[in-house]
Parts: sequence; C-alpha cells; structure tokens
Amino acid sequence: MRFEVQPSRITDAKLTVPGDKSVSHRALMLGGIAEGRTSVSGFLAGEDCLATLEAMSRMGITIARPAATELIVHGAGLQGLVAPTEELDLGNSGTAMRLMAGLLSGQNFTTVLTGDASLSLRPMQRVIGPLERMGATIESNAGRPPLIVHGNPVLRGIDYTLPVASAQVKSAVLLAGLYADGVTTVKEPAVTRDHTERMLVTMGAEVDRVSNRISLRGHQTLRGSDIAVPADLSSASFVMLAATLAERADVLITGVGINPTRTGVIDILQAMGASIGFENRRLFGAEPVADIRVRSSRLRGGVIDPALVSLAIDEFPVLFVAAAAAVGKTVFSGLAELRVKESDRISAMAAGLRALGIQVEEVEDGATVYGGKFIGGVVESHGDHRVAMSLAVAGTVATDTVVINDVATVNTSFPGFTSCLQQLGAAIR
Ligand code: S3P
Repeated sequence: MRFEVQPSRITDAKLTVPGDKSVSHRALMLGGIAEGRTSVSGFLAGEDCLATLEAMSRMGITIARPAATELIVHGAGLQGLVAPTEELDLGNSGTAMRLMAGLLSGQNFTTVLTGDASLSLRPMQRVIGPLERMGATIESNAGRPPLIVHGNPVLRGIDYTLPVASAQVKSAVLLAGLYADGVTTVKEPAVTRDHTERMLVTMGAEVDRVSNRISLRGHQTLRGSDIAVPADLSSASFVMLAATLAERADVLITGVGINPTRTGVIDILQAMGASIGFENRRLFGAEPVADIRVRSSRLRGGVIDPALVSLAIDEFPVLFVAAAAAVGKTVFSGLAELRVKESDRISAMAAGLRALGIQVEEVEDGATVYGGKFIGGVVESHGDHRVAMSLAVAGTVATDTVVINDVATVNTSFPGFTSCLQQLGAAIR
C-alpha cells in the first residue's frame, strides 16, 4: 500500500480523530484483571489495540464489542487470567508487548509473546531486567522478542530507577507490582505519560506519586469502571500540522486528550509560532480533554528544549516536518530513544525529508533540520506508521506529488487517516 499526496488546499473543518492508543491498551488490560465489568467508549479500533484485545481474549477474558469503538470487558479479577493455548502475537505493538510482559510476570503460567518484523527488533531487556528482579523468568532472543514469560505467582516488590524515561517500562513494572508482595516503586528520570497511574486510581487502587517516584502496594483489587477514551493527541498532531502549514485554515479537532504528560508537541509547535488553543476543556474520567483550535501560521525554527522530549516522544516525526517547513534551522537533541521506535525515526525522517529537498544533518541523538520548500518525490515509510503520516502531511504543501511507500501500518494507530485528511481538503489517496 502507498499514499499519493498532491499539493492541497486545506480548508476550515471541524473533525475528530480516533481514540487514544495508550488509554485503549490499558483499558483492556486493567479491565481484564479488574472485578466486574468495564465499559469502554471511544476505543481505538487500530491493529495495535486489537492485538491486545485478542491476547486478553485468549487468556479467557470475555470482551463484547457492541460497536467498533465500544467494548464491554468482563473483568475476571487479578487471578482470573488463564494460560493461552498458543503464543500471543502482538503485531507491531511495543506497548502491548512491554505491558503484557509485566502483567504476565505475576501469573502461574508461561506465555510466549511474539510480534512482527519491526517489533522483533525492539529492545526488551529494559522490561526483562526489572521483571526478573521481581521474580519472573523471561527468555528472549538476546534481549529482543519473542519473549517467553515464565510467570511467578509470588513476585516481590522492588524499588526501581528507570534507566531510560519510558512509560511502557514504568507501566510494566507497576502491573507486575499489582501481583507482588510489598510495595513496588518506580523512579522516572523524566515525566512520562501517566495513563496507567490514572486508570489504576479510577479502578480504585491506591497509587502514590512523590516527585518522580510512583509507588503501589501489591494485591490491590481493581474495580471495573466506565472508561471514556479521549481522541488521541498523537493522531491529532498530524491534523494540527496540516492546518498550521495551510495557507489559511481554521480547524477544530474535538474531544482530544490533553493530559499534560502528552502535550509537549503543542508546547513545541507554539514556541515555533503555531496558533493552537484549547476550547471547552473538560474531563473524561481521569483524563483531561479539550477541543483543539488550530489556525494557519508561519513557523520559525529554533532549539528544541530536550526537557520536552518525553512529553512529545511520538511526535518527533511530525515535528521534523514542522521544522522542515519553518523559517530557519531547528536543532533537535535528546532523541536517542527515537532510534528504537517502530523504525529508526531519526534516520527514516532524515532520509524522507532529504528526498523532498530538505537539508538535514543527523547526529546520534538528534538532527538539525534546515527549513525549506518540499519538492515532490517518492519516499519510504520504513514500515513506520508515524513516518508515513508525517511525510503525507509534508506532501500537502509540496510543489509536486509525494508518494509514500509501505503505509499499511498506519492502521496500527490511525485507521481512517486518509479520510480524515480528505475532510481537511487534502488531496491524498
Ligand atoms: C507508550 C509509551 C511510549 C510511546 C508509545 C506508547 C505507552 O513509549 O512511544 O507509542 O502507551 O506507554 P516509551 O514509554 O517506551 O517511550
């Protein structure tokens, strides 16, 4: 599959984007081990979350799906999971694999977790280390998937300092902590998304946060709850940039999650000169949401504050496109983690932007992007959904047709991406 994007006239629009991927994964996992029923609205029916849905079903959790984005998860309690008869295939999803490794560490059975070619290259030692310290045994292919998780029903709580800022690792340790004796504490080197902590509290658990230390006591009972999933800010960021780069557009994206651990992309775009504002702020349970208004504006380059990296971790592909369309140069640093995402996002984006006529200097943990004008061309997504969508946004303001190859993985996080861009007036097919 490929995208073909023609120079476009982006127009005024009011639209929304699909549900938050991080919150959708957590609703399935926590709902599955809660007592009683969890109803989920706004679920992201993307391949990543469907892999988690399938995995939970294979471990005996009954999940009804009255509509594509609505679920009823019949929680079986902390001890309610049963051994799956086959391996669990988690597709492209690092979140599913790392969180699942934590959840499965406290079970009295062994599970095999596999993934696609991209996931099979991603580092798992970061979860294996702490989970083994808690008492699980996890076999891997030299620190990469597949993982064979030998659960241990008598885990012990640990006090663990994350070597890299990662919400996935934090969440894996906290999920295992639910099954551990004593208290489990995770100390994070930078603030990362806190959806796990918020949902645990919604489900009645006690989770303490004291500065950068998050602690929970083991064996707490979770209560099934109603979870309204906000629209995914990471998906909204493609729309935000398309509207910003347009000649003259005023776009409202409704019901988007604005959890402050996720809004780094907005801070960075605003610092570059974007006109982005929140309207109608409200709460979806524990998660803050707003309608996001974006008006076209001229961007200027600058030095991106590395303190914002963990708050915008998935948005650097789209921010590289913003930098390429800005006046002047933009310097990104502190991005080492981007090299181990669904692709090496620094080199994938550098290659894509260069093919579209943009000068990029790549360094180990970042890049300098020189603002310019996109020309047409054929670019590669490297099988990475966010690289594909970012380059598609560049195509809307290029001087000629942009073709992006290998875009099927867009369905992992943003089903309906092309029709959403078409609603904005983009000429994409
Ligand atoms: C996620 C955490 C992030 C992010 C991923 C989703 C999560 O990964 O890149 O898309 O749901 O916890 P890291 O926390 O490992 O950086």
